[in-house]
Amino acid sequence: MTNPYTSTHSTARGSATPASSGTPDPSSPAVADPAARARAALETARRRTMALTDPVTDEDLVAQHSRLMSPLVWDLAHIGNQEELWLVREAGGRPGLRPDLDHLYDAFRHPRADRPALPLLGPAEAREYVAAVRTETLDVLAGTDTGPGNPEPLLAGAFVFGMLAQHEQQHDETMLATHQLRSGPAVLDAPAPPPAPADAAALPREVLVPGGPFVMGTSTEPWALDNERPHHTVHVPAFWLDTVPVTNAAYQEFITAGGYRDPRWWTPEGWRHVQDAGLEAPLFWERHGDAWIRRRFGRTEPVPGDEPVLHVCWYEADAYARWAGRRLPTEAEWEKAARHDPATGRSRRYPWGDADPGPEHANLGQRHLRPAPAGSYPAGAAPSGARQLIGDVWEWTSSDFAPYPGFTAFPYKEYSDVFFGPDYKVLRGGAFGVDPVACRGTFRNWDYPIRRQIFAGFRTARDASPDPTATSASGTEGGGAA
Ligand code: AVJ
Ligand code: FE
Repeated sequence: MTNPYTSTHSTARGSATPASSGTPDPSSPAVADPAARARAALETARRRTMALTDPVTDEDLVAQHSRLMSPLVWDLAHIGNQEELWLVREAGGRPGLRPDLDHLYDAFRHPRADRPALPLLGPAEAREYVAAVRTETLDVLAGTDTGPGNPEPLLAGAFVFGMLAQHEQQHDETMLATHQLRSGPAVLDAPAPPPAPADAAALPREVLVPGGPFVMGTSTEPWALDNERPHHTVHVPAFWLDTVPVTNAAYQEFITAGGYRDPRWWTPEGWRHVQDAGLEAPLFWERHGDAWIRRRFGRTEPVPGDEPVLHVCWYEADAYARWAGRRLPTEAEWEKAARHDPATGRSRRYPWGDADPGPEHANLGQRHLRPAPAGSYPAGAAPSGARQLIGDVWEWTSSDFAPYPGFTAFPYKEYSDVFFGPDYKVLRGGAFGVDPVACRGTFRNWDYPIRRQIFAGFRTARDASPDPTATSASGTEGGGAA
């Protein structure tokens, strides 16, 4: 088998690819200095990678804390190996540092459970390796024309540098999930988010998103990944969406009502999985008499009722929604709620507008080690009034991970293409452990419907009565391209 990551970019598609529809995609941010943005994003990612590995003992770094996860030392060197492949060799045209390591850090060659048995770099070697790669990367960046006019699509707008900053941040999130699965004492710390704002309790339970077309995806966001492209028009009938994600308190009612023991609420596959896996509550919850406690990054606490529920699989989210007389939103509904501005008809980069996320907008970037209470971040609200669409918890949608009309794999098939199909469900919005560089109104994540170690929650939706003025009642997700 050839190393998929070494494939050349013969399938490369530039950001200048014509859009699949005639609808303008005006959410194009002007990036003044792509190289400076790239340098800052790479540096932010590396600081976080070190913060996730420096406080961990060598023994703990090489241990496997769950068969679902790699040893932390694998993620660390994999980050460096991908950076060597794409930034030093591909972008820089240089020979690289350790091509002999490629096979060890090829995610497709070795399943996570097998990685501890590989002759991996040890902690000290891995740290030296990633630092040496980074020195070369910055040298390549300094000599690269990252202007939007560079005809090489990997380099225009510093795309591949942004892609690798996102890659490192995604593995940092994976390492954060490994920290949550560790049984050892706490090594990470962060202040709690502020309490909910005064109006949180008075928010309407749900908000109305009007029917009609909207522009989904992007063709212009410089660092958007292949699966977010190209932009296209989708007709989404009016629907109601929860103003905030489902809370622990609400989810506890489902448990108390016997939701886990009633097949009416579950799909056949979900019901089988609940039985086989013995599910009774979200991952990391433990019952103590009438109360629930949960372990969080090495500490134990009562389950906070006002926080969005976390660590539920798609089957649990889907069953809760059915029990509540509702359903999960489709991916198109989620994105319309997050981006569509009914006043102008255009799609925003984020619910609050086009500005990059700040601490007032959303709980991102591991500033906190938990979601903020439901109703937080009024400054991050969407035009509909929905809050916390970005940050706090990933949100399961009802949709399978599928390519948009006109999709082209770029720069390698193994980022998205090989995952399209009914096996994976889409998650949107990002969680507290997602960095802003890897989070947008268009950003798509995916996982198996049984997975619970990811930082995932959900919100629910329902159809609105048909609007007689709507241009389309089909509501086919992704199929309504104009
Ligand atoms: C997009 C989060 C599903 O972690 O498997 C990391 C991101 N791709 N290295 C994953 C990714 C290659 C990916 N997810
Ligand atoms: Fe990776």
